[in-house]
Amino acid sequence: MIRTIRVLLIGLGNLGRRFCDLLVEKEPYIEARYGLRLLLVGAADSRGLAYDPHGLDPARVSAIKQAGGTVADYPKAGQARSAVELITRAEADLLCEASPVNLRQGAEPGLTHIRTALRRGMHVVTPNKGPLVLAYQELHALAAEQGVQLRFDGTVAGGLPALYIGQRDLRGAVVRRIEAVPNLVTGYILELLADGLPWEEAVERARSEGVLEADPSFDLDGWDAAAKLIILVNAVMDLPVRLEDVERTGITGVSGAEVLAARREGQVYKLVTTAERRADGGVNLRVAPTPLPADHFLAHLGRKQMGVVYHTDIYGTVMAAIDEPTPLPSAATMLRDIMDIFCCQEPANSNK
Ligand SMILES: NC(=O)c1ccc[n+]([C@@H]2O[C@H](COP(=O)([O-])OP(=O)(O)OC[C@H]3O[C@@H](n4cnc5c(N)ncnc54)[C@H](OP(=O)(O)O)[C@@H]3O)[C@@H](O)[C@H]2O)c1
Repeated sequence: MIRTIRVLLIGLGNLGRRFCDLLVEKEPYIEARYGLRLLLVGAADSRGLAYDPHGLDPARVSAIKQAGGTVADYPKAGQARSAVELITRAEADLLCEASPVNLRQGAEPGLTHIRTALRRGMHVVTPNKGPLVLAYQELHALAAEQGVQLRFDGTVAGGLPALYIGQRDLRGAVVRRIEAVPNLVTGYILELLADGLPWEEAVERARSEGVLEADPSFDLDGWDAAAKLIILVNAVMDLPVRLEDVERTGITGVSGAEVLAARREGQVYKLVTTAERRADGGVNLRVAPTPLPADHFLAHLGRKQMGVVYHTDIYGTVMAAIDEPTPLPSAATMLRDIMDIFCCQEPANSNK
């Protein structure tokens, strides 16, 4: 018996387009191994949408986007209307939300997309941090009320299953301290500085390789790392923290000379995020460029690697890292989340 899951996909950029490619590549395996057929019934970008209840061709959607077009031009199914209209009207089981992150204007458009889908009884998977950072509790309450699941594995450290490890695999433990390098581009720039590149050249290299956000301050000033820390602490430590709770310093003040001097003393600079439980039940949250001793797990991370360390009361210290030279693993987190929703028996929005 093959079960069909009707999928809407909003955002067809680096991740959304690659997710379409994954739907094509993985279709036979997912059907054979899990008995699931993922049917892309709707897709939207900033200029329009395409909807066909019998299914769009994900390869065609991907080709349109690779050619720089809009899905509104999809033959017969394309329309110059908004993603919200698609989510409001389409018959679907699940929304994949991969629109741009936006911490400044109320996490829009992602927050409205996710709220609308949850209210309509759709499961939601998203790598978009904004809605989770600004409305974590609200969205989880809404999902629980509607009896659907909200998954967001791709919001922290790309394709690294940092949230799965923290929420699922550390069950029964109290996580006392989290240390992470969840932002790829700052680690990359610090490595380039250690190679002796001047700051401007290092930033330009990151920009030309497409790993820097359109607004560079989002990465360089530590906002991205802080946002990921907020999601980690809400999800893994079960503490309702907010962005303004983070003591945040980015890497813009770090000079090449400092990075090189640290190297000579056997230390490695990383933009480290830390959450430390306090005895009073609170938590100290920090994002800061930190010279790590060479034997620290996070000091071993390579140029395009991210990692997390969980210090627990009963499982010891658990460490994980990912090498992510392309956005494919981040796109694949949407697949992982979907598989987990439909192949798992357990309630997913719980870390208890
Ligand atoms: N890139 C990564 O490695 C990575 C890793 C983890 C998480 N993420 C997160 O995943 C999300 C997507 O990232 P990305 O790199 O794929 O971004 P991207 O390349 O900038 O693509 C964003 C997509 O969203 C569409 N879009 C913009 N405004 C929209 C609106 N109002 N309605 C519908 N669609 C809209 C864009 O449309 P057009 O095509 O018309 O411009 C584009 O297709 C972001 O939230 C990001 O933070 C990314």
